[in-house]
Amino acid sequence: LVKSPLPHRPPTQHTLTFAAVFICGLKVTTSLWCNCTTAQCEKTGSQCETDGACMASTSFIDGQEQHIRICITRDKLVPPGQPFYCLGAEGLLNIHCCYTDFCNSIDLKVPSGEMCGGNGGTWGLVELVAVIAGPLFLLCLLLLVGVFLYQYHQRAYNHRQRLEVEDPSCDHLYPAKDRTLQDLIYDLSTSGSGSGLPLFVQRTVARTIVLQEIIGKGRFGEVWRGRWRGGDVAVKIFSSREERSWFREAEIYQTIMLRHENILGFIAADNKDNGTWTQLWLVSDYHEHGSLFDYLNRYSVTTEGMIKLALSAASGLAHLHMEILGTQGKPGIAHRDLKSKNILVKKNCTCAIADLGLAVRHDSATDTIDIAPNQRVGTKRYMAPEVLDETINMRHFDSFKCADIYALGLVYWEIARRCNSGGIHEEYQLPFYELVPSDPSIEEMRKVVCDQKLRPNIPNWWQSYEALRVMGKIMRECWYANGAARLTALRIKKTLSLLSIQEDIKV
Ligand SMILES: Nc1ncnc2c1ncn2[C@@H]1O[C@H](COP(=O)(O)OP(=O)(O)OP(=O)(O)O)[C@@H](O)[C@H]1O
Ligand SMILES: [Mg+2]
Repeated sequence: LVKSPLPHRPPTQHTLTFAAVFICGLKVTTSLWCNCTTAQCEKTGSQCETDGACMASTSFIDGQEQHIRICITRDKLVPPGQPFYCLGAEGLLNIHCCYTDFCNSIDLKVPSGEMCGGNGGTWGLVELVAVIAGPLFLLCLLLLVGVFLYQYHQRAYNHRQRLEVEDPSCDHLYPAKDRTLQDLIYDLSTSGSGSGLPLFVQRTVARTIVLQEIIGKGRFGEVWRGRWRGGDVAVKIFSSREERSWFREAEIYQTIMLRHENILGFIAADNKDNGTWTQLWLVSDYHEHGSLFDYLNRYSVTTEGMIKLALSAASGLAHLHMEILGTQGKPGIAHRDLKSKNILVKKNCTCAIADLGLAVRHDSATDTIDIAPNQRVGTKRYMAPEVLDETINMRHFDSFKCADIYALGLVYWEIARRCNSGGIHEEYQLPFYELVPSDPSIEEMRKVVCDQKLRPNIPNWWQSYEALRVMGKIMRECWYANGAARLTALRIKKTLSLLSIQEDIKV
């Protein structure tokens, strides 16, 4: 309520009238002066006198707010206490009756909410229903659209998944519940391309592997032991930065006809996007002995053990290096990072060459190498002299094979030191352990290998044991400064095969 100033009236009269009602009780009949807005009151200066009450009200006329002030006679104030005249009526939005002089000079305000109707301020039933039901209806509509979109998305996703993994024409290749990996891979290497599982099977296998424990860390990521259908597998997980290495290694492992008992058995490659980053997996056979480096650190070997390790490593490398002609043939491959950490030891104590990520393939038809080879890759300690001093002829594929043979000679030295002959064996050491620090630079290696022309020591006492003598001779012939003069993997394999027959070793 907003009070407007009282119109003029002799102050004594005003006070007296009020005092008379108040003091003398309800029965006292007295008159009141009120403001008046009717046409009749124009003559009396917009004032009226009454024995009843003054009334003020507000209404809307043609969308305009109008203040009405009138006098109400005493006989109209029925029923007493709550006269009809003083109750709200349609069109008159707010009514106020009062009983003192000019008490109806107030301006009644229309509650703002009531303006919304625009037709006098009150809402009709239709508007009310619209206001309540409208948003409810919209909400339901939105919910329905949401549910529909979700179901559509799910259907599309499931369909995509099915397309990725289930090609009905390849049902016979899909991993049936009771089949082991070995069964699957054996089927493919005897009936198919000989280059491994189809990609959709690789993905299915990779995504059903349960990782168990981390078993190693290398330059490109971590290696885990995982379980697949009750068997162990090794999972090399590359960081997303190493995508090229992952891709290259998977590509090399899937070279047609590469599978060999002395090359790590490749199972699957998978790139799994988990929303934030891409996980790059390379799944292979798991070998509980770990790398040859791990194995030699832990155990010494018998003469038989040494020959088995050396011969199997030579067989693996010979297969890798060899070109097989024909439609089901394979290109020659050079490893370029051969070392004891990249050779795994199988349960039967033979070797499996691993880590093919830096390998290069030879295309004999065009006499080219399948990637532009950069000069110095691999592990510095195992680099051949021509790699260290950059004199290697990179246009000639055989140069890379010769560099592998130099590294194989160093691996043989690591094995032979651990060979128990006549009750003697030496502790495990890395090649050049006494000549260079733990992570040698190219320069440090070059000084030792190229300038000083030093090679690991072949002890004289090895000459007293045929197997060690042969091994020592092979090593020397792997370490010639001139790569072309070195033995070939096939030659080494033949020499060691003869040795195993001589020593009566079953391999
Ligand atoms: N298939 C496998 N089965 C069992 N152990 C494995 C297998 N592959 C790798 N390992 C273990 O994981 C370790 C790490 O392998 P990784 O090839 O990543 O690194 P590295 O060979 O030690 O070093 P680099 O990065 O120089 O190759 C290996 O040394 C070996 O002990
Ligand atoms: Mg490695």
